Amino acid sequence: MKDLLIPLFALLFTGVIVTTAMANRDVPEQARVHTCVGECYEAYVAANGNILDQQRAAAAAAASASPAELGKTAFAGCTACHGAGGEGGVGPQLSGRDASFVNTALTAYKNRETRGPQSALMYASAAALSDADIANIAAFVESL
Ligand code: HEC
Repeated sequence: MKDLLIPLFALLFTGVIVTTAMANRDVPEQARVHTCVGECYEAYVAANGNILDQQRAAAAAAASASPAELGKTAFAGCTACHGAGGEGGVGPQLSGRDASFVNTALTAYKNRETRGPQSALMYASAAALSDADIANIAAFVESL
């Protein structure tokens, strides 16, 4: 009986790994995605397009997104200090500010200029932004 313990645990462990992997596979509705060829693959392409179609669709979606939509994505790195809706927190409230205010402030922080007493807290965030990011974020903040 004692000799059976290790193989039993190994079996149990394998079971857990396989169950977890199956639950996290890329295409959950496909029963055996690792052998998705022939009809299975054709059905997948009919439903989702092939990899090129998917990339084109993603590129088209990104190209047609408005500056404010793109800014919303870029603003994800700001919410910890300014709040998800720009209501403020560690950093000042941003909602209610117009685009040119945000643009001027971010450009100043990007150039490591001092605006308020805690400007240094903004340098890293602003340095990571391109001019296009700044314009998009400014449009998003104005929409808040
Ligand atoms: C580590 C916390 C922190 C992060 C992250 C952060 N900020 Fe700030 N932010 C601050 C603080 C603190 C100030 C006030 C700085 C000062 O005294 O000049 C500020 C100031 C600002 C201002 C000027 C506001 C005013 O009333 O003068 C703008 C605009 C701004 N942040 C935008 C952003 C954007 C956009 C991001 C994301 C790319 C961001 N911040 C990320 C903390 C942060």
